[in-house]
Amino acid sequence: MKPKHCLVFFAFLCSQALATFKLQEHFQWNILDYEYPSEEARLQAILTGRFKPENNLPVGIEIWNDKMFISVPRWMEGVIPATLNYVPLNIPVKNPRLIPYPDWESNELGNCEKGLSTVYRIKADKCDRLWVLDTGTFGIENTTQNPCPYALNVFDLRTNQRLRRYELRPEDTNANTFIANIAVDLGDTCDDAFAYMSDELGYGLIAYSFRENKSWRFTHSYFLPDPLRGDYTIDKLNFQWGEEGIFGMSLTPPKADGFKLLYFSPLASHREFVVSTQTLRNSSKVGNSWNEFYALAERGPNSHTTSRVMDDKGLQFFNLIDQNAIGCWNSEKEYKAENHGIVDKDDEELIFPADVKVDRNENLWVISDRMSNFLLSSLNYNDINFRVMFAPIDVLVKDTVCECRPNDLSGLRIPHRFGQFPVQLYSPYPGKSLF
Ligand SMILES: *[C@@H]1O[C@H](CO)[C@@H](O)[C@H](O)[C@H]1NC(C)=O
Ligand SMILES: *[C@@H]1O[C@H](CO)[C@@H](O)[C@H](O)[C@H]1NC(C)=O
Ligand SMILES: *[C@@H]1O[C@H](CO)[C@@H](O)[C@H](O)[C@H]1NC(C)=O
Repeated sequence: MKPKHCLVFFAFLCSQALATFKLQEHFQWNILDYEYPSEEARLQAILTGRFKPENNLPVGIEIWNDKMFISVPRWMEGVIPATLNYVPLNIPVKNPRLIPYPDWESNELGNCEKGLSTVYRIKADKCDRLWVLDTGTFGIENTTQNPCPYALNVFDLRTNQRLRRYELRPEDTNANTFIANIAVDLGDTCDDAFAYMSDELGYGLIAYSFRENKSWRFTHSYFLPDPLRGDYTIDKLNFQWGEEGIFGMSLTPPKADGFKLLYFSPLASHREFVVSTQTLRNSSKVGNSWNEFYALAERGPNSHTTSRVMDDKGLQFFNLIDQNAIGCWNSEKEYKAENHGIVDKDDEELIFPADVKVDRNENLWVISDRMSNFLLSSLNYNDINFRVMFAPIDVLVKDTVCECRPNDLSGLRIPHRFGQFPVQLYSPYPGKSLF
């Protein structure tokens, strides 16, 4: 098939695919519950108000072996029992109770040294470690208090021991800082690892070197929100989140030069940006790398996104919160709306798909949680509010524009208004020039 035909053909099929339901439901909850040491302890926590089920919203997931990790931010003081939890993936119930990870003690609010106060997104790496950023806070927006500093925690998933706790330096954050996302860049060895953390409201990108046990902070105008993109309508609820900057991030597989590309987008924006990890890994680049960040195209209307992930083949998946949908983009192609597909859309089951992750078996996992209803209105606890869904990636991209490969080179030139992106970096074939 010739490239041109390929695109047209799949664009047609893509619109057809919208009607099908590709993600399968794995878990579903009306309301969250926790596995206490005893039923008595659970009832006691509910009776004394230390656990208020209706204040618990799951926001982040990760999959490792037969565990699904689920984070619950402490948006209210004292009523969210544990912020980092897991459930066994193969448990034969649809609405399992959350089990604190690694244990109850490690989830103590305000215990800076040993506890976790609020965790948003989590990332497992190929060295069987779980990277967990603790904001050290409780509350939300103007009720936020920070008993502890931001701290990056790394757990050994095999032993359930904490390998490291690193407090961000005062210079890594500012008075507006709010960091909810983390990307992990693993090199050739387990020691050669970096974490990138996006400061959504303080507009920065913090890099942490595991080997050096050091962090540094980039600032860039591309981390700022687009003033024209601050309006949202989700599940008929209209609201403005105009100040939210750099948020979702995804890393490509290694390029020919050994480095990866970090794609990111501010939340109040429809635009994608990209930077090489060669820049981010180098602390001397702070302050003199403005031209090493590149602006790509806008995704098109209603394309706010908070979470994205890329698989080992360079397929990016991203949540489309205004569309109750999950989008895809094959990074072998130019970043533009025509090359984006929708792998699933559901106005009931995918209301606010808060997190997307890929497991080691090439399945895409999604959690939807009706976050905007929770924050701005309220949830009906007679309804199913939270869902975990998954599907094999090859099933999801079938018949979408993202499937069209591997020989479609039609879109590899990257035009944009802000400079010439080194296009050869996009080659999926190391060492082979495409032009
Ligand atoms: C926080 O903001 C909300 C609305 O923006 C307001 O109603 C409330 O009084 C504020 N609370 C505090 C503690 O400032
Ligand atoms: C990392 O650095 C922090 C201080 O910045 C220190 O408290 C901690 O012990 C260090 N950890 C390792 C493993 O070197
Ligand atoms: C880091 O960046 C500085 C400044 O651009 C450059 O001189 C240096 O060679 C870079 N280091 C590495 C290891 O690439």
